[in-house]
Amino acid sequence: MASIVLQRTNQKMPLVGFGLWKVTNETCADTVFNAIKAGYRLFDGAGDYGNEKEAGDGIKRAIDAGLVKREDLFITSKLWNTFHAKDHVKQLAQYQLKLWGLEYFDLFLVHFPISLQYVDPAHRFPPGWTGDDGKVHLQNTPFQETWTAMEGLVDEGLTKNIGVSNTTGSLLLDILRYARYVPQVAQVELHPYLTQEPFLELARTLGIAVTAYSSFGPQGWVELGMDKNLTLLMEHTEVTSVASKYGKTPAQVLLRWATQQGLAVIPKSNSETRLLENLDCVEFNLEEADIRAISSLNKNLRLNNPAEIDPHLAIFA
Ligand SMILES: NC(=O)c1ccc[n+]([C@@H]2O[C@H](COP(=O)([O-])OP(=O)(O)OC[C@H]3O[C@@H](n4cnc5c(N)ncnc54)[C@H](OP(=O)(O)O)[C@@H]3O)[C@@H](O)[C@H]2O)c1
Repeated sequence: MASIVLQRTNQKMPLVGFGLWKVTNETCADTVFNAIKAGYRLFDGAGDYGNEKEAGDGIKRAIDAGLVKREDLFITSKLWNTFHAKDHVKQLAQYQLKLWGLEYFDLFLVHFPISLQYVDPAHRFPPGWTGDDGKVHLQNTPFQETWTAMEGLVDEGLTKNIGVSNTTGSLLLDILRYARYVPQVAQVELHPYLTQEPFLELARTLGIAVTAYSSFGPQGWVELGMDKNLTLLMEHTEVTSVASKYGKTPAQVLLRWATQQGLAVIPKSNSETRLLENLDCVEFNLEEADIRAISSLNKNLRLNNPAEIDPHLAIFA
């Protein structure tokens, strides 16, 4: 399986994984089991997705059925914004590991560089963006405190690798000033409407692997009514014409556009045929000119921008 070797641990992170956001609780265990049967080895979860227990059930079934061993899998999860204080990072990692039924994560990411007021998981989990009053409550935890606690998770064997998500270059540079363990992975929104070349160049320079999320652009946001009425990338003539040229689907072309640039991808699909189609996206090569043509669709357009929830959360400003 095509993979990226992560710095420090030299662990191989599969280039194509399965994204668990918006996979329903009812279908999640079956979907994970079927995805493992189809050949997926990386699952991208998060406390915020609210389906970690069900994802873990699917994994357990696959291990019990002899399809895989734990060490064959690469499980990613994420620390939510309300757990950035040093005392809460480990508490949450242990809580989430219990939900998954796992002893360790392969990768644990800070979901957003945003610290929000603590919500006890016994009160509400996942806590979401707002308090009981429906308002956003910031908390003054500096990122260094959170990162140092993330490093503690590595020392204690709760995760093998750590990283960040929804980050910009300035945060990466800041972390390097105090990190004992440099972030191994940065997971960011990246698709032809948001190509982020300068960020990729910095990550390459620093040896930080990049995972692109929302590879299909607005497609994954349609079901939330948050697609901003954009032309769907899978229907864009620039993408469909390249797809016909190679005899591939638009989805496969969008994923190959990313993986050929050295990015890992984590497409989500609730359909058994589409999840197979998505996994089968590294066995062909796009010509440079086709990659450039698709990149020219860039609009620097973000679908996942917390500033739209509250202007105090404008991390990309
Ligand atoms: N770190 C973060 O803050 C963050 C934010 C967003 C996402 N993520 C991660 O990235 C993953 C993927 O991103 P995403 O959920 O935004 O969406 P995505 O994978 O870009 O797109 C998913 C959408 O595309 C459809 N689809 C999937 N495969 C298809 C195919 N072959 N042909 C046609 N349509 C297809 C899906 O519908 P069906 O299900 O019906 O197939 C769904 O509507 C998430 O699940 C999550 O793990 C991380």
